[in-house]
Amino acid sequence: MPDMKKYVYIQTFGCQMNERDTETLAGMLEDLGYFQIDAQDNADMIILNTCCVRETAESKVFGLLGRLRKLKVANPNLIIGVCGCMPQQQDVAKKIRHSFPFVDLIFGTHNVHELPRMLQQIQETKEAVLEVWSTERGIAENIPVRRKDKLKAWVTIMYGCNNFCTYCIVPYVRGRERSRKPEDIIHELEDLARQGYKEVTLLGQNVNSYGKDLNINYYFADLLINIEKVEGLERIRFMTSHPRDFDQRLIDVIAASNKVCQHFHLPAQAGSNRVLKLMNRGYSREQYLKLIQDIRKAIPDSSITADIMVGFPGETEEDFEDTLDLVRQVRYDSAFTFIYNIRSGTPAAKMEQVPEEVKTARIQRLIELQNNISLENNIQDEGKILEVLVEGETKTNREKLAGRTRTNKLVVFEGPMELSGRLVSVKINKGRPNLLEGELVLVSANK
Ligand code: SAH
Ligand code: SF4
Ligand code: F3S
Repeated sequence: MPDMKKYVYIQTFGCQMNERDTETLAGMLEDLGYFQIDAQDNADMIILNTCCVRETAESKVFGLLGRLRKLKVANPNLIIGVCGCMPQQQDVAKKIRHSFPFVDLIFGTHNVHELPRMLQQIQETKEAVLEVWSTERGIAENIPVRRKDKLKAWVTIMYGCNNFCTYCIVPYVRGRERSRKPEDIIHELEDLARQGYKEVTLLGQNVNSYGKDLNINYYFADLLINIEKVEGLERIRFMTSHPRDFDQRLIDVIAASNKVCQHFHLPAQAGSNRVLKLMNRGYSREQYLKLIQDIRKAIPDSSITADIMVGFPGETEEDFEDTLDLVRQVRYDSAFTFIYNIRSGTPAAKMEQVPEEVKTARIQRLIELQNNISLENNIQDEGKILEVLVEGETKTNREKLAGRTRTNKLVVFEGPMELSGRLVSVKINKGRPNLLEGELVLVSANK
């Protein structure tokens, strides 16, 4: 009997919002009889869920599309789709259409839930479909989902961004801020807890402005208070929070919580007030440092991480030194570092640019400084006994288990595979640049 199963390969680029959208694509496709596979070979459908936050992400997709042409020639029945943030830019959608005419389906971030209908249309008309909604139209709930992980789940609590940082394309491709209703979020979380999920990460471009658009006097701190009550969930994380909207009430709610993890990803972007202003970040260096101080005062063992950018237009050596100084003062546990990249249509694209070689030299200095601090911070953890949620065996060494602390640090230690999915206590023996090594000391009775 011929193999009647249909296979889909989805490649995801960009942030967790896209990863979560891919889980929705996979869920809807599963209902249509598709099995998700992790390679292009033998696929009946290939979908690229794209990102456009930097040029490198876009070039990867164009490169891949070039290579997919051959697969399409070999198998004309293969369906190729491109979705996500790239096609939300009109000129890019057109470019894909013209340069890669073999692509069957192009859609954007606002109509992910329309995939089944669009596929049906392709089947009926045998013609390509290009459907990108230029603006958001409310939130679609109760869409099937096929989650990648059995232990940790992503839950989108809001879509879009209103901040318009002058370098950033995200508000243009993700639309304005829309918060999901609290009851929809809580139902999803209760369902996850019933399925055995232990950890959830609440997602949004700016989670701490959650609720502002709902006009029901209910905000991110209120949501955290209600999520805390969902039985079975052990750990609550969230990303990303904007430093400008992080208020004392939120800090107090997190400090009082048993489940919200002591990890704060607070993108600083820059340490110079002049640059922060040009970026339209809405906080000063002093306000940012005060926030870190307030968090550490209320929640002493907090881990702080950030996104930091170098080479924003007009950034002088002195501005850059301010960024290095901020990094030295905060002493981040880790940081994602980026070289500023022009995104057309954003205000910063028209400002005076910093030469490439200057940007490259600056990022190297920044990375070196941050790496030293990360290692020093990890060495500080030596001797501590930390709670670890065991994720399974490590990728490189099958004898060892890996998991994460509440501060989101990776821990590697010896132990039996059966501990996967459990919360254990691990004594840290060695701090390494990107992880902690330890030994198992205690397995909690029923968690
Ligand atoms: N909403 C999140 C981040 C979204 S994008 C926040 O505000 O923190 C993730 C990171 O990509 C940003 O924090 C920023 O550091 C980086 N980024 C965004 N646009 C960029 C650009 N044009 N060039 C380089 N890095 C950029
Ligand atoms: Fe981009 Fe700024 Fe919005 Fe983050 S807050 S997504 S950096 S515009
Ligand atoms: Fe990229 Fe879109 Fe996320 S541009 S960073 S995938 S919101």
